[in-house]
Amino acid sequence: MSATILVGTQWGDEGKGKIIDVLTKDVDCVIRFQGGNNAGHTVIIGDDKYVLHLIPSGIFRGDVKNIIGNGVVVDPISLVEEMKGLIDSKINVDNIELSSRAQMVMPYHKKMDLLKEANRAEGDKIGTTGRGIGPAYCDKATRSGIRAYELLDLELFKARFTTECEKYNAIFADADFEQLDIDATWTELENAAKFLKSNIKDSVYTINKLIKENKNILFEGAQGALLDIDHGTYPFVTSSSTTSGGACGGTGVSPRHIDSVYGVIKAYTTRVGEGPFQTELFDEVGKELARIGHEFGATTGRPRRCGWFDAVASGYSCMVNGIDKLAITKLDVLDKLKEIKICTSYEIDGKITKEMPSDCKLLEKVVPQYEVLEGWVSPTTEARAFDELPKKAQIYLKRMAELVNADIGIVSVGPKRDQTFTVNH
Ligand code: GDP
Ligand code: IMO
Ligand code: MG
Repeated sequence: MSATILVGTQWGDEGKGKIIDVLTKDVDCVIRFQGGNNAGHTVIIGDDKYVLHLIPSGIFRGDVKNIIGNGVVVDPISLVEEMKGLIDSKINVDNIELSSRAQMVMPYHKKMDLLKEANRAEGDKIGTTGRGIGPAYCDKATRSGIRAYELLDLELFKARFTTECEKYNAIFADADFEQLDIDATWTELENAAKFLKSNIKDSVYTINKLIKENKNILFEGAQGALLDIDHGTYPFVTSSSTTSGGACGGTGVSPRHIDSVYGVIKAYTTRVGEGPFQTELFDEVGKELARIGHEFGATTGRPRRCGWFDAVASGYSCMVNGIDKLAITKLDVLDKLKEIKICTSYEIDGKITKEMPSDCKLLEKVVPQYEVLEGWVSPTTEARAFDELPKKAQIYLKRMAELVNADIGIVSVGPKRDQTFTVNH
């Protein structure tokens, strides 16, 4: 039996979906533990590209169970759409289980997300995905959220939805913001609830039974550690615990059962949305990374900001997550660069530090201190073993791992399943 947590170590979009799909070859169950359909996890199988938002990336391996855990906030209408999309592509969705304890994202949460963002002053905007994530976690914390098991009793669900929606509509009216049509919205929700009925289970028991049966379990993180509500670049973060610690609370599994933590790390850095980004590039190299790496958000289509690998931020993230193995992705995107920089420390107000400040205002002042490495200027996309990589690429990867104090477990040299290899120590 093994229980492995996989998390993103930067600001999201590190390639978690691809790595989960690869690792799922040897796994019995994949579980999402936080976030919602703000996530966009890309899996490419043959010539087909799939982007998953709520459904775990183990869905393409027929016999694998895919659980949406209690820590996830679930938009039921969007989940049904996603399931129907997979059914249309002849992907089996019978193995999906939705935790009865998961919080529901309601249409009023999405509206509230947009209203709050519109009301934030320039400079304070977070650049959310507009999927209602913050307001849904807000309702969870204030104990007025609707949980999945409530979808099983339509009469009760309708009453709860109507009461909550009326409260939100009053706020929208005060703000001169368009209100929700309760009847029309209810029809959509009722259809979704009926569709999901057979998927709703108390997954805490399912997961703990699998652990007792010595099955292999993989926890799929969404977003990235630097977007964590506690450990990220607050307030420019998402509203959930994206770090490895979140996997236990978000699924009902004891930390005693966790064996290892995989950290997915891009060979450079990207960020989508607002907030500090210490190594962001505004020059031609940044544009080149975005172009070659196809850096557009998988959920919103927004261009991703690009920059050099930041060993201070990623080192902090590996420490908080307790990463023992790295899955380094998108190495191939650097193939044409003559020189590659790694940020190894920050200068803030004239002082050098290797620690990530908690204060975003200090992060904005960071002058990154770079180490410059020679580029390998040759393709890596055909490599299927570490020693098949150009020597300079090997040096780059080893330096990344050394700086963040973790071992390399997997290297990814392209978006396809087979453009991946493991590294043994
Ligand atoms: P996630 O949110 O962490 O699952 O990542 P996304 O799917 O949002 O973004 C990662 C993007 O990079 C997707 O378009 C993947 O197909 C692609 N990708 C993943 N690994 C690699 C790689 O090693 N090389 C290249 N070139 N693309 C990759
Ligand atoms: P995956 O799982 C990248 C960002 C948004 C915004 C901030 C808050 O694909 O890596 P939210 O809608 O969560 O309240 O937005 O978080 N964000 C992501 N950025 N990848 C993601 O997910 C993200 N999910 C949220 O852009 O800056
Ligand atoms: Mg993504």
